[in-house]
Amino acid sequence: MADGAGPVVAIDGPAASGKSTVALALARRLGLLLVDSGSMYRAVAFLAIERKVTVSDEQAVGQIGRRVRADYRAELPEEGQLKVFLGSREVTEQIRSAEATGAVSDVSRITAVRDEMVDLQRSMVSRSGAVVEGRDIGTTVFPDATLKVFLDAAAEERARRRYREFREKGIDATASEVARQIQRRDEIDSSRESSPLMVSAGALLIDTTDKAVSQVVEEIARALEGV
Ligand code: CDP
Repeated sequence: MADGAGPVVAIDGPAASGKSTVALALARRLGLLLVDSGSMYRAVAFLAIERKVTVSDEQAVGQIGRRVRADYRAELPEEGQLKVFLGSREVTEQIRSAEATGAVSDVSRITAVRDEMVDLQRSMVSRSGAVVEGRDIGTTVFPDATLKVFLDAAAEERARRRYREFREKGIDATASEVARQIQRRDEIDSSRESSPLMVSAGALLIDTTDKAVSQVVEEIARALEGV
């Protein structure tokens, strides 16, 4: 940071560990760009479903990855969630549907898809810095990040949070379905060959189970001041 460049904060962690909420609040507080890498993989899953491409057709899914790399755009409004676009089409809601969520970990283990998404993430971050959230940001995408954070929470708490989110959005799913889906995604994300979910060396570990979002944001902001 001494040379005038902004910080890059890498936030990784399993499904529903609080990454998106914390990263959004932190980016707003610090006036930094927010890069939500999960929304990119979700966009690939969404387009694959829309085009009726099966996730086992790695070549076709890889091509969709190239498309997403070219067309992905995100906007952070003054209030509310990050808006995601493919070209001029807004897909914020669609990429979080139960169907896209069910397919996302399967498309994310395809190396050709990961290569495209990693290039996209790196190309979005300029010298002004960013908060970048995902699964492999500290390990693979920005191994030299100014600060690396790994957020975790008890599995039951993560399932509870996601179930509450679904209910608020009117998405139809039972609590046990939500818990099963999170567990399945965590298993695939942690065991895949290509940049699996794991704690990066030197990461600040925060268990968010009993913590308010504001507390976690405060902890990260303080750690960043000390870097
Ligand atoms: O918000 P949530 O924790 O449900 O997930 P997300 O951050 O939107 O990520 C959705 C999925 O994308 C994950 O389950 C991973 O399969 C994949 N992903 C990934 O492989 N690498 C990343 N850097 C980010 C997400």
